[in-house]
Amino acid sequence: MVRTFIIDTDTASDDAVAILMALQYPDVEVAGITVVHGNVPLHQCLANALFTLEVAGVDVPVWAGADRPLLRPASTAQAFHGVDGLGDAGYGPPSRTPEAGHGADALIDLVRANPGCTLVTLGPLTNVALAISRAPDIVDCIGRCVVMGGAANTVGNVTPAAEFNIWVDPDAAAIVFRSGLSVEMVGWELCRGDAGLSQDEYEALRALGTPAAKFAIGCQAAVIRAIADMEGVPSITLPDPVAMAVALEPEICIRSSRHLVEVETTSELTRGMTVVDALDVASRRDPGPAWELARAVTVCREVDIPRWKSLLRTCLA
Ligand code: RIB
Ligand code: CA
Repeated sequence: MVRTFIIDTDTASDDAVAILMALQYPDVEVAGITVVHGNVPLHQCLANALFTLEVAGVDVPVWAGADRPLLRPASTAQAFHGVDGLGDAGYGPPSRTPEAGHGADALIDLVRANPGCTLVTLGPLTNVALAISRAPDIVDCIGRCVVMGGAANTVGNVTPAAEFNIWVDPDAAAIVFRSGLSVEMVGWELCRGDAGLSQDEYEALRALGTPAAKFAIGCQAAVIRAIADMEGVPSITLPDPVAMAVALEPEICIRSSRHLVEVETTSELTRGMTVVDALDVASRRDPGPAWELARAVTVCREVDIPRWKSLLRTCLA
């Protein structure tokens, strides 16, 4: 049975690999890609998404969405992904063009046309929050919403408390996490350490020699440099591909639990922190419909690292 995926992305080096995985996977059809500000400015995210489709040789409609967060100034991760988001390796420009219309409106149309679809979010949640606000009915139309974002009661990557996608637009994330959407949260903590690719592992993938494999590793040049500078050893963390692996093969998430997840939107110190009620203390204090609604969030606690890496290799081969 074919599964329909919709991808919302701030396309940079790890997003691109996640998109390639979905496009290559046998029983998945990507109905559309909506692009959001994030790693790099929106126009560059859009170019990167269009170029990634050229690498895959697949036609998927792409829409540009929000170019900034709901309330905050835009922030990028160009120091990590490179100015162009793809390691400044000189890819592009893309020959394809995006569809007309705003990505948030496209999300509404795509979801309504594909009830039960899987929405995979790889960037800040601005488009998704706008879509839910404009059309609350889509919450029940979406079968699964796999979110690469947050950090479940642990350290962040952009501040000590917050992961980039949630930190950039915490107000949008707060709307999404409290909407009743069936969110599966794949936090940054699951993508670090052994879940990353060592130099031997990423060179072995590059050696597969396919256009997808060469691009998937070639566009990581800035990430490799940044991690080598920080940690002294070249490696590649791939948060979006880990989340996409969970979306493609849910069993890759080997331990999860459902909790209330609140997003900090007031304090600057903990802006964007995903506060997971891991012991359900909030429900004991004030049970009720709001709490039940919020418990729609499934927090992935552990992924099957060998299986995630095997899936990546299969998709790139
Ligand atoms: O924190 C990692 C996330 O932020 C990934 O989605 C990466 O692409 C950036 O968007
Ligand atoms: Ca991303």
